[in-house]
Amino acid sequence: MTIFTYCKSPMESTWTPKLLLKLTFFIFISVFILLQLFPISYLHRAPSLWPPSKFSLFTAPISLFPKEALPTKSGYLTVNSTTGSSIFYTYYEAQSLTFPDLSQTPLIIWLQGGPGCSSLFGNFMEIGPWYVNLNHHHRDLDNQPFVLEPNPGSWNRIFGLLFLDNPIGSGFSIASSSEEIPRDQFSVAKHLYIAITKFIELDPILFSSRPLYIAGESYAGKYVPAIGYYILKKNEESNHLVNLAGVAIGNGLIDPETQVGTHADNAYFSGLINEKQRREMEMYQNEAIRLARLKRWRDATDARYRVVDMLIDMTGLATLFDYSKKAPYHKTQWVTDFLHDERVKRIMSVEEPAVFRNCSHVVQVALYDDNMKSVKYMVELLVKRSKVLLYQGQFDLWDGVFSTAAWVKTLQWEEIQRFLAAGRRVWRGRGDELAGYVQKWKSLSNVVVSRAGHLVPADQPLNSQAMIEGWILETGLFSDDEQLF
Ligand SMILES: *[C@@H]1O[C@H](CO)[C@@H](O)[C@H](O)[C@H]1NC(C)=O
Ligand SMILES: *[C@@H]1O[C@H](CO)[C@@H](O)[C@H](O)[C@H]1NC(C)=O
Repeated sequence: MTIFTYCKSPMESTWTPKLLLKLTFFIFISVFILLQLFPISYLHRAPSLWPPSKFSLFTAPISLFPKEALPTKSGYLTVNSTTGSSIFYTYYEAQSLTFPDLSQTPLIIWLQGGPGCSSLFGNFMEIGPWYVNLNHHHRDLDNQPFVLEPNPGSWNRIFGLLFLDNPIGSGFSIASSSEEIPRDQFSVAKHLYIAITKFIELDPILFSSRPLYIAGESYAGKYVPAIGYYILKKNEESNHLVNLAGVAIGNGLIDPETQVGTHADNAYFSGLINEKQRREMEMYQNEAIRLARLKRWRDATDARYRVVDMLIDMTGLATLFDYSKKAPYHKTQWVTDFLHDERVKRIMSVEEPAVFRNCSHVVQVALYDDNMKSVKYMVELLVKRSKVLLYQGQFDLWDGVFSTAAWVKTLQWEEIQRFLAAGRRVWRGRGDELAGYVQKWKSLSNVVVSRAGHLVPADQPLNSQAMIEGWILETGLFSDDEQLF
């Protein structure tokens, strides 16, 4: 606007000091606006990334699966050579090099929850470099309902990123029989360990010394500690080390007995139920806790789901995953339909006749008894020997902020009192907008992500990226001096 009034001004040929002042002001404003559009962090941390080198921002991808969107590698990692059961993976190398070389660039492994949901949800609607969108704009692709679009919040901006369809039977992974599907976290970890070591063996020079971070959300609150603990134990007994550097868990189910006891209070203090409903819900919660203590696992799981059903009924919410949403996360359906497309399957090296199981019922049944079992003791070892990030979307009613705080304060860890006393810092994101809160003491960090539900990266892609990068690189609110309070 400024430039038009300036050009039309009758004074336009006279360079008065006042005009020069205006011009300087205009340049300042323009630079400011440009910096908003192209944030400074992109400019100096990864100059090759903005604009993204592999595609133009303003032209549409020309095929269903543009070449640039292909995983660096994808395929199968056999976890049982007798039966042929194998874990499907997709791997995306870091988009830009910020470490001396790729063999030192951290690698993140992502595990989806469920139990039984495919990690390709993480790939194509949360943290992967491309996500599935409806084909609204691309007339040249009229007969295609979906397109892939670049994800500015991808977690492989500066790290390698590996998605594993876990356990076998989920996503495109192959379970030769339903009996072979893991029924407990030890078996889950055993398969994951084989898959991870096989992945590293695909290119030991490139992968074996990279710091490894394992991340996941929801039911992966079980898997992530399980594989982390398993790696630590394996590292004790062999010299074939897996370079575990840390674990990150978003809205996780870790210590169900404690967490199931938080729903009534959480809903009550969020204004979603009244006092009478709160007492009724507490009765059901206590029953789930009682059954878990008796190790009647199946009954305890039933009881837990009764609490959840009650919460759905009483609150009338569209989804417990985010009390601010008017509809459930609908992109899971897009990803599902996209991955059912035979062409997509071929491109991604999916073995025939594997069909895509977005959330496998068979896996859910296999892990039914596991549901209420705690993995807190595994987190206790991990927090001593590596580093742990817990993050929660603020609006989640399943495994949210309060649910996490309840078990964290019971951690058997010599530093827990210091962690609980540590300051909770306000985290500001781009444009100084509130992004959440960070609390950190030594190896334990907890992050609350503002305006996000159960699937944090789907709701806050850029902030989730800033969080994982800050935590891994130990910068900003995660740097050591921030521990002083
Ligand atoms: C592989 O499958 C066989 C047959 O089901 C089983 O006995 C064996 O324990 C399995 N191995 C692993 C590593 O799961
Ligand atoms: C999985 O796919 C089935 C069949 O398309 C669908 O009914 C279900 O809603 C999908 N689940 C999720 C989580 O999207």
